[in-house]
Amino acid sequence: MSKSLEEEHPQKAFGWAARDATGALSPFNFSRRKPLAGQQEMQLALSPFNFSRRANQDEDVTLKILYCGVCHSDLHFTKNDWGFSFYPMVPGHEIVGIVTEVGKKVTKFKVGDKAGVGCIVGSCRACPSCDQDAESYCPKLIFTYNGIYHDGTPTYGGYSDMIVVDEHFVVRFPENLPLDGGAPLLCAGITVYSPMKYFGLSKPGMHLGIVGLGGLGHMAVKFAKAFGVKVTVISTSPSKEKEAVDRLGADSFLVSRDPKQMEAAKGTMDGIIDTVSAVHPLLPLIDLLMSHGKLIMVGAPEKPLELPVFPLIMGRKIVAGSAFGGMKETQEMIDFAAKHNITADIEVIPMDYISTAMERLVKADVRYRFVIDIGNTLKASCDGNV
Ligand SMILES: NC(=O)c1ccc[n+]([C@@H]2O[C@H](COP(=O)([O-])OP(=O)(O)OC[C@H]3O[C@@H](n4cnc5c(N)ncnc54)[C@H](OP(=O)(O)O)[C@@H]3O)[C@@H](O)[C@H]2O)c1
Ligand SMILES: [Zn+2]
Ligand SMILES: [Zn+2]
Repeated sequence: MSKSLEEEHPQKAFGWAARDATGALSPFNFSRRKPLAGQQEMQLALSPFNFSRRANQDEDVTLKILYCGVCHSDLHFTKNDWGFSFYPMVPGHEIVGIVTEVGKKVTKFKVGDKAGVGCIVGSCRACPSCDQDAESYCPKLIFTYNGIYHDGTPTYGGYSDMIVVDEHFVVRFPENLPLDGGAPLLCAGITVYSPMKYFGLSKPGMHLGIVGLGGLGHMAVKFAKAFGVKVTVISTSPSKEKEAVDRLGADSFLVSRDPKQMEAAKGTMDGIIDTVSAVHPLLPLIDLLMSHGKLIMVGAPEKPLELPVFPLIMGRKIVAGSAFGGMKETQEMIDFAAKHNITADIEVIPMDYISTAMERLVKADVRYRFVIDIGNTLKASCDGNV
């Protein structure tokens, strides 16, 4: 039998994968043992999840992965919340590491450089979005994982030891930017930076609401403050108030489930960035906007939200969506973050803590991003114990 394209890839890689919509992540391949008469089927988990990466091509950069952030999208994807997941899946799209190989046409990197890879590893490079450096809106964009690469093979993400990526989709990490705290910039950071810029919400003196103080939300507070914007955090967790104000620098804090607080803040905001990962009501947020205000959805709940139209009409308000930014803007954001000392507040975890981390993410119990210490804790061999 001829080998699949993926099997023909010569570079051996190792990672943690989800096998189905339970979302359970492990470093093993499961195989089923045929039951003998009268016995229950047994599931064995004895072979490590090895896979392959393509050989480094002329325009490619190979990274030894050192850290990978845990985005709530990893949780949505592994559980097939959005309905287009396929398996096995190695998640992770906040990837940082050290360049170990460069192709002969590579111009931006040399071996030993610090570099990062975010949400995409490819696009068509020819459509209007690609022409305008907005690869995130290319109809043929290729996700870093749960995507199909140009050669027809599945893409695998950063919960793994190494990755090969076209240099166009790799960003340079300035020397002063720490790799662990910098990793979440590659998705959480750019996903909030991009809409603030695009929708004109980064002008000094504006009043911006940030809904949901998680990975994306806390990055949004930091970027907005660096732009000179007045920030109000809108949260379901009163316990986050002190940190939001004292440490992250927010100007004020609203508990979204407290109608009195929400009522008092009606009509005060130029814009809102909504990072909530679950279904939630939009009317109270639309009411916080002044006329002509903009509600920008970046959180991606698994079910549709109800959109009340009358309050939009009466205030000529806008509801829009926004994805992570293009490659040029991602580099601009990383350089801005390095200049203003913006990094994520992180909890560094070992690879085998990932199931607990995912459970805690469901409960909004993270301050404010888990980052996996891939370099020290992803083991290339395993003993078969699950
Ligand atoms: N647009 C894009 O390209 C893009 C990129 C990355 C991520 N995302 C999506 O953005 C969302 C957030 O990602 P993340 O990594 O920041 O997640 P996260 O760290 O889990 O933060 C989400 C926050 O939303 C709030 N929240 C959770 N459940 C809620 C509920 N039922 N009602 C109201 N608020 C709730 C919580 O904040 P409080 O405790 O403060 O209420 C929580 O900390 C996810 O859906 C993710 O898939 C989109
Ligand atoms: Zn993400
Ligand atoms: Zn394109």
